[in-house]
Amino acid sequence: MNETILAGILNTLEDGVAAFDLDGHTLCCNAAACRLLHMDAKSLRHVFDLPTPVRAFFGGVRSGDSTTVELYGQAVRLLYHDITENGLRVGAVLTLVDIGERDRVERIRREFTANVSHELKTPLTSISGYAEMIENGMAKDADITAFAERIRRESNRMLALVSDIITLSELEERGIREQEETVDLYALVQENIETLKGAAMVRGVTVQLSGEPTEVEASRVLLNELVYNLLDNAIRYNRSNGTVSVRVHNRTLTVRDTGIGIPRANRDRIFERFYRVDKSRSKATGGTGLGLAIVKHICERYHASLKLESAEGIGTEITVAFPRE
Ligand SMILES: Nc1ncnc2c1ncn2[C@@H]1O[C@H](COP(=O)(O)OP(=O)(O)OP(=O)(O)O)[C@@H](O)[C@H]1O
Ligand SMILES: [Mg+2]
Repeated sequence: MNETILAGILNTLEDGVAAFDLDGHTLCCNAAACRLLHMDAKSLRHVFDLPTPVRAFFGGVRSGDSTTVELYGQAVRLLYHDITENGLRVGAVLTLVDIGERDRVERIRREFTANVSHELKTPLTSISGYAEMIENGMAKDADITAFAERIRRESNRMLALVSDIITLSELEERGIREQEETVDLYALVQENIETLKGAAMVRGVTVQLSGEPTEVEASRVLLNELVYNLLDNAIRYNRSNGTVSVRVHNRTLTVRDTGIGIPRANRDRIFERFYRVDKSRSKATGGTGLGLAIVKHICERYHASLKLESAEGIGTEITVAFPRE
């Protein structure tokens, strides 16, 4: 196998790999290793060039040894192995595993399961409670319609939650590809404004659209999801008599509202699943905290940039820009 192919393969690995000959000269160093070591491949010419904690690990190390060190604020697991040829030691390979990242992914997965269970348990408890009252004859005839209405509302909430979770897992499942087509972003926004007209009216929010038709190659279903979620938030987290200004031009969508804004401390987190700044407000309006997680995934899928600007009590502006072809 030629060296370029080998280097290409090594660069696809998530773990860092660096190999050295018996004199300590670098034989190769993949992209993940450079990232974790904060070095480029050219500046790592010898074991001596390694950061101190890694160099220290090399002293008296034996094949199969491992340790965890802190590198630039990240917990990194180091593993050492001899490279042998016909039973003779010809070099050494160092593997670097970013355990901080692994722990983070694991934590997000655990939290996700706990959140889903919790979100499903609340409506289910209430549905089962109302059904039980009807079953035991504890509900007066006059109550039955009201109970049925609550059961329906809670079921709808669960249905919305489940369909959001399905969208998210489909987005993560890269194998599944939505059919892509040329979509006019401007027309799509118009359709969504129409759909959300009722919700805006109830809150006394005015929605304005400006700009011009612009085409994006993407799945209509996913683009619709993106536009809907951004508009829905801009209306939902607005003040009464507030405004939502939408601008579409040159493969870019900007949604600006005059709402409650997002405190600086929460800005990084609102794109996480189930994260809500004000749980009670979001819940009262039926939110589950999945909308922006879906938006972020869709942007990543189409390499679109996602920019957020916000001022508490003044409003929020989110801009999605699809790459220019
Ligand atoms: N335009 C906005 N103005 C102020 N806060 C916002 C805005 N958009 C989102 N947020 C905050 O970010 C949180 C996450 O938004 P996200 O759309 O992911 O979830 P949600 O609206 O609570 O529920 P849903 O899953 O129905 O969209 C919201 O709960 C809200 O606190
Ligand atoms: Mg939302």
